[in-house]
Amino acid sequence: MKKIGLMTSGGDAPGMNSCIRSITKYCLNEGIESIGFHDGFQGIIENKYEVLSFENVDNIVQRGGTILGTYRCEQFKTKQGRQKAIKNIESIGLDALICIGGDGTFTGASILSEEMNIPVIGIPGTIDNDIFGTDHTIGYDTALNTVVEAVDKIRDTAGSHNRIFFVEVMGKNAGFIALNSAIASGAESVLIPEEHTDADLLAKDLIEQNKGRRSSIVIVAEGDDGGGAKKIMNQVKPLMSGYSLRHSILGHIQRGGRPSAFDRMLATRMGAYAVELLIRGESNIMIGSNGDKLVYLPIKEAIKIISKPDLTKLEMLTKLRTLTM
Ligand code: F6P
Repeated sequence: MKKIGLMTSGGDAPGMNSCIRSITKYCLNEGIESIGFHDGFQGIIENKYEVLSFENVDNIVQRGGTILGTYRCEQFKTKQGRQKAIKNIESIGLDALICIGGDGTFTGASILSEEMNIPVIGIPGTIDNDIFGTDHTIGYDTALNTVVEAVDKIRDTAGSHNRIFFVEVMGKNAGFIALNSAIASGAESVLIPEEHTDADLLAKDLIEQNKGRRSSIVIVAEGDDGGGAKKIMNQVKPLMSGYSLRHSILGHIQRGGRPSAFDRMLATRMGAYAVELLIRGESNIMIGSNGDKLVYLPIKEAIKIISKPDLTKLEMLTKLRTLTM
């Protein structure tokens, strides 16, 4: 290993910078060049990269976003786009590529490794936590804390105005952020894509739970089949006359901000482990966490299996409903 390329791709996630720092520092300590591509796969196609030094990665462990930039690259999905990328990787003389991102990133990385036979390692970096083979993805913990802080604030105004709030959170097609933020914020209800949403039942339950109290919070995952916070609120509105309903879409605030200590540690350890594994000769794997241990699995397996949140948590939440006070 003389030259390792790295890039961040897909939605940015807090902790990506901690990971870039750790990969680069580990490489430099091993006498390996660290090549950082700009804007994910697009940077490989356009040959936009920089040779990373200790100075480049100084004081970034605490910064949100990604210093390398990121992009959802459509061109890389085409054979033509990948051929340009392969030509550039060959001319740079890369020995391996580390891709930090989500399932789309790993699919691209996996196809690339087949087409040019370059060792590839995936590091799960997405706020959605929707990757099989890891307990946590980089950025998820920070996003979850951002959501909980925002919901706490919404609870203050909801209680003051005697309102029911439908709060929409991110997560693409998965309910990890929704389900776990609902538990942590003490929400009265949660709607996730993994379970069917029934507006009639929801309205009845909210009326029941709202008796004798001044606020209720419904966390709505953006991928829920009810169609998002505004849509579901409008569906239950005719069934809840006399109640004051509002919706709030938290949006991209969930992707920004300083990474939590947990995400910094996870990202730092995963980055270092990726370089260690490449030196050991591993390839086409994704790194994951299992409890406090780091593990790895074939990248193809990680993209094949759909990861779902633990639905027993939903059952638990039904036992924590507020009955008439
Ligand atoms: O994958 C991360 C994520 O934030 C999802 O939760 C969300 O659905 C999507 O990215 C939004 O992507 P964009 O910023 O490209 O609109």
